[in-house]
Amino acid sequence: MSHSSELAATARSLVTAGRGILAIDESNKTCNARFAALHIAETEDARRAYRELLLTTPGLGAWVSGAILYDETLRQSTADDVPFVRAMNDAGILPGIKVDTGTVPLAGSPGELITEGLDGLPKRLEEYRILGARFTKWRAVIAISELTPTPRALRANAQSLARYAKAAQTAGLVPIVEPEVLADGTHDMERCATVTRAALKHVFEALDAEDVDLAGIILKPNMVTPGLRSSHRASVAEVAEATLEALLANVPANVGGIAFLSGGLDDVLSTQHLQAMNAAALERPWPLTFSYGRALQQAALHAWRGSPREVPRAQAILAHRAACNAAAARGQYDQAVEDRPIFATA
Ligand code: G3H
Repeated sequence: MSHSSELAATARSLVTAGRGILAIDESNKTCNARFAALHIAETEDARRAYRELLLTTPGLGAWVSGAILYDETLRQSTADDVPFVRAMNDAGILPGIKVDTGTVPLAGSPGELITEGLDGLPKRLEEYRILGARFTKWRAVIAISELTPTPRALRANAQSLARYAKAAQTAGLVPIVEPEVLADGTHDMERCATVTRAALKHVFEALDAEDVDLAGIILKPNMVTPGLRSSHRASVAEVAEATLEALLANVPANVGGIAFLSGGLDDVLSTQHLQAMNAAALERPWPLTFSYGRALQQAALHAWRGSPREVPRAQAILAHRAACNAAAARGQYDQAVEDRPIFATA
């Protein structure tokens, strides 16, 4: 198989057959902050135990095609010494890796961020491929305020995303391209739609300039919603319609697939939005699925709280959420699926 058809096949396998991606690529700092809020030890072994719980959830591979890991996790093993990468492959879950190194303030643009990690990237990609990764992720963040985003920040972040995507494909790894328009803020849905469209336009111009093979990428966008602190509300149908419109206007038809982030939205609502988009009459050229972090993990993390006794319950909760989202990826999610008893899922 040629390099480019291999990338396209991997991208496709991540987003089709009613499966989606589990994002567990929180940096140690972010993972620790979530642990601290629940009085869980902020240690390497607690992070390892938590990721083991998630990745070894019985039946997970039926709903989850791949999981995005953090550098530390890609190198870890189960308590029985099975490398996570092997456990994932055995479960039919492709290993992925976050390769950006986080955000820093964008010089000259107060309130705006640029994602770093291009320095030394080809070498790290090479190592990640040897360690077993098949796909990668880079997240750019775009904040909405009265003064932001500026065209300059949109351009700079799009260029970094495109340079990363080219480097990942050159290393034989599928890039997940994530231009996240943050949901934080008091803006209405129209403003989110305008910014999301502009961000996508910049990203696809930059990907084109870098000659990135679009069939071998996955786009990870936000949904178009009012800001989390907005007084405006939008129905599930309105979010689905506005999101599809923004994507159809700016995402080329040959993109390998689209896997949404959840961005701090409620977990059930994130599933409902995905279902509404997949059930919409509007014709769309790409598969639409999930690449959720918090919307998949939140309830399981709260159930676990660091207690080995709670592992089966936390796994059953994750399995249920993953099954609900997989149903939504096929356009088959409804209240009956949501209400299925948790332990009946697996
Ligand atoms: O980069 C963001 C994560 O991969 C997705 O996390 O679903 O909690 O927004 P989220």
